Amino acid sequence: MFPDTDTAPQTIYLKDYTPAPYLASHIALTFELFEDRTIVRSEVTYRRNPASSSDTLVLNGQDQVLLAVERDGAAFDGFTLAEQKMVIEQAGEQFTLAITSEIHPETNTALEGLYQSQGTFCTQCEAEGFRRITFFQDRPDVLSTFSVRIEADKQRYPVLLSNGNLQESGDLAQGRHFTAWHDPFPKPCYLFALVAGDLVRIADTFRTQSGRDVDLHIYVRKGDEGQCAHAMASLKKAMKWDEEKYGREYELDLFNIVAVSDFNMGAMENTSLNIFNTKLVLAHQETATDADFISVEAVIGHEYFHNWTGNRVTCRDWFQLSLKEGLTVFRDQEFSADMNSRAVQRIDDVDQLRRLQFPEDASPLAHSVQPDNFIEISNFYTMTVYEKGSELIRMQHTLLGADNYRQATDLYFSRYDGHAVTINDFVQCMADASGRDMSQFFRWYKQAGTPSLQASGRYDANNSRYTLTLRQSQPDTPGQTGKQPLLIPVAVGLLNADGMETHATQVLEMTEREQDFTFENVASRPVPSILRGFSAPVKLSTDLSDDDLRLLQLRDTDGFNKWEAGQTIALRTIQRVMADAQADTSQFIEDFGALIEQGLRKETDKALLARALSLPSIAVLSQAQEVVDPASIDQARTSILKSIKQAHKDALVRLYEFNSDDGAFSITPQAMGRRALRNVALELLTVSNGTGCAARAKAHYAQANNMTDRVAALSCLADSIKPERDEVFTDFYERFKDYQLVVDKWFALQAIANRAEIFEDFAKLRRHAEFNIRNPNRVRALYSAFAVNNPVKFHDPSGQGYALVRDAIIELNAINPQIAARQVTPFREWRRYAPALQSQMQQALQSIMETPGLSNDVFEVVSKCLK
Ligand code: PHE
Ligand code: ZN
Repeated sequence: MFPDTDTAPQTIYLKDYTPAPYLASHIALTFELFEDRTIVRSEVTYRRNPASSSDTLVLNGQDQVLLAVERDGAAFDGFTLAEQKMVIEQAGEQFTLAITSEIHPETNTALEGLYQSQGTFCTQCEAEGFRRITFFQDRPDVLSTFSVRIEADKQRYPVLLSNGNLQESGDLAQGRHFTAWHDPFPKPCYLFALVAGDLVRIADTFRTQSGRDVDLHIYVRKGDEGQCAHAMASLKKAMKWDEEKYGREYELDLFNIVAVSDFNMGAMENTSLNIFNTKLVLAHQETATDADFISVEAVIGHEYFHNWTGNRVTCRDWFQLSLKEGLTVFRDQEFSADMNSRAVQRIDDVDQLRRLQFPEDASPLAHSVQPDNFIEISNFYTMTVYEKGSELIRMQHTLLGADNYRQATDLYFSRYDGHAVTINDFVQCMADASGRDMSQFFRWYKQAGTPSLQASGRYDANNSRYTLTLRQSQPDTPGQTGKQPLLIPVAVGLLNADGMETHATQVLEMTEREQDFTFENVASRPVPSILRGFSAPVKLSTDLSDDDLRLLQLRDTDGFNKWEAGQTIALRTIQRVMADAQADTSQFIEDFGALIEQGLRKETDKALLARALSLPSIAVLSQAQEVVDPASIDQARTSILKSIKQAHKDALVRLYEFNSDDGAFSITPQAMGRRALRNVALELLTVSNGTGCAARAKAHYAQANNMTDRVAALSCLADSIKPERDEVFTDFYERFKDYQLVVDKWFALQAIANRAEIFEDFAKLRRHAEFNIRNPNRVRALYSAFAVNNPVKFHDPSGQGYALVRDAIIELNAINPQIAARQVTPFREWRRYAPALQSQMQQALQSIMETPGLSNDVFEVVSKCLK
C-alpha cells in the first residue's frame, strides 16, 4: 500500500491544461471479488497522442497494492512510483501494459472507487475514483471502449453488472461465476461502473422513436421492489421527453439502474448502469413525500439525460464540469416543468437557487461556473456549477429562442459526439447556430458573484412613453475584482393601474452598466413586471411601491412574478417588524386573509397558492441583512405568522377542511397542490405550539394515508413541548423503523426543532443505535438538517451548535473526506454574523484546520473560509 503523501495540497489550474500524452482506445478489466480483497487486472494498449509533445506516460493510482506489471507480455519495472502516480518516461510509440493490483473495497469508507454498501459491491468513479481501482490516466479526455469481466461467489453475488451489453456469463469452480460486458461507446473512466450483489430486478421496456426496444432494469434490495414503480415510470417519461425535446434517442439495448444505501451524492450517470442513492429511486405513498416523488422523477431524468449531455459528449477536464451539469440540470428542470406545473417548478427552482447558491456566491467559497483552479475537484460539485450553471443555459435559451436553441444543441451533438470538449465549445455552438456574438455572454461563466440589478421607471404622460432605467453591478469575490458588465436578458411586461397587461413580455438585452429602455404607447402610468420567470440569476431591486407590488401579486400574468411580488411585500413587512416590533402590519395581514379566501375556491391553483401563503425562509431573509442574526429574523417572522393565525383562524380552519382528502391517493399536480395547501393551513394553525396546536397536528398525523401528511404533522410538532410530540414521534419510529429512508426523516425532523431541549435531543440522536456516521444519508439527516435547516439553534449564542458540527467534521475527515468537506459549508459565511457568533464560528474553523491528517477536501474549504 502506498503511504498517503505528506506533500502540501496542490492547486491545479485550468490554464495549465495539456492533452494526454497517450491514447488508450480500449481497456480490458478483470475483477476477482473476494470477501477480504479484490484483484484487479487491467490491460491497455497505449499509443502516443499526436496532439501531445510528451512521451512520458503518467498513470494515476491510489490505495492499491501493486502485484504485477507487464509490458508487451514480459515482466516490466521501467517505471517510478511517486505521489499516487506511476510514471514511465520515454515510454515509446505503442505498447501494451498489463497491471495487476489488490484493493480493499471491504474497508473503503470514503465511498469512492470500489466499495461495499450493505453487502453489495459498487463503484463510484466520478470524479477521480477510478485511480483507486487500477493505474490509469484518470482524466476525462482519455476515451476508451471497455470490456469487463467480473468473477465472484455465485450465491452471495448472483447479480454481476457493468456498462454496455452482456457478452457472456457462466459458472466457475468453487461456487463462483462470472459475467463479461462490453461497452462499445468510448468513454472516460469516470463513467465506468461495476455492481455485484444479491438484488432483485424490476423489468420493463421502452420502444424508441426509431422502433428499437430497450430493456429497462431497476435493481434494489429484496423487499424494496414494491417502491420502484414511480422510478420506472419516470425513466420512460424521460426517454420519451429527450426524443421529443432534444431529438436524442437511446442507442444501447439495455439501461440499468441500481439503488444503494451508501452513496456520497444523489446519483451517478455511468453509461447504461446508473447507480443511485436509494433516496432517489424508492418512492411509495406510505414512505415518500410529494417532494420525494418530484425529486425521484427529476433525478431519474437528470441521470438519463446525461447519456447525451455528459457521456456521449463529455468534458475535456474538470474545469468544464458545468458543461455537463449545468446543461443537464437545465434539462431536468424543463422536464419536470413539462411533467408537472411550470410556474411551481420555476418558483421552487429559484427558491433553491436563492437559499443555497446565492449564499455560496457571497461567501469566501465563491467561484465562477467555469472555475480557474481547484485543489480537490470533489469540492466543486456545487450549487454554482449545477444550479447557476443551469441558469446560464436558461439565459442562452431565452436569448436565442426555442428554435435557435434547438438548432444549437443539434449542432453540439453532431459536432462533438464521442468527444471531450469545453464549455467554450458549447457556447460556440450557440453562436454558430444563431449568428450571435456570445463573447460578452461568456463573462457569466468566468465572473463569480451574484450581480445586482437596479430598476427605476419614469413615465412621460405627454408622450405616452415609459422609460425603464436598469443598472447592473458585480460584487468583488475572492481573487476577482473590477468585473465587466454582463449581457443580462431582462424579461419585462407592463400592466396598467387596473391590472390589465398592456405590453406583453419582451426580453430586454442589457449590455451596459446602465441602460435606458423605452416603451411607446403607454396610455397611463404603468406597473412594470420586471425579470419575469426570473430571466437572469440576479438580485433585483426596484422602486415599486407596496401598492404596485400588490397589483402584481393579484394581476400579473407571469406566475413567477405574481409569487415574487408577494414575497417582496412579505420581506418588506418582516424587515419593518425587525426594525420596530410595534410596526403596523395590518395591511399585510388583511391581504393575507384575501389570499386564504382564494383557497376556498375550486378553480384556484392550489400549489401556487400554497407557495404564496409561505413567508420567505430565514435563509432568504438573512441575505437582506447587513449583519445576520437568525434569532431576530425568526422572532419577527414568527410574530407575523402568529398575527396571521390570530386574524384568520376561522378562515384557516375552513381552508384546512375544504382541502381535506378527496379519496384515493394520487400524485397528480392537483393532488399534490391540495396537500401542500392543506399543510400550509396546518402549519399556520399550529404556529403557537399550544395545546390545541398539538392536538390538531396529532389528529392530522392519525388521519394521514400518506407520508406527505405525516411529515407535515411531525414538523408542526417538532418545536412543541406538549406530550403529543413524543407520542407521535415514537409512533412514527415504531411504525417505520424498517425503512431506512423514513428513519432518516425521523432524525431530520428532530434535528430541526427550534426548542430549548434541542441539544439534549441531539446528543440522544447522535448516540441512537440507528445513527451511523459512515452512512452519508444519516449524516445529512442529522447534521445537515440541523446546520442548514435549524439556523436559530445552529447559531445558538452558547456555541453548542457550532461545536457539535465541528466535532462531526473532524470525525468524518478520517472516514469520508467528501462528506466531511460538505459539512463545512454552514460556516462559510461566518464574517456576516454578529461579532459574538462570528468569533465562535471562526474558532470552530480554526480548530478543524489544526486537525492532524486533514484531507485535501477539508483543507481546501476550511482554508478558503478562513482566508
Ligand atoms: N455526476 C453526478 C450527477 O449527475 C453527481 C456525482 C458526482 C455523483 C460525483 C457522484 C460523484 O450529478
Ligand atoms: Zn449530473
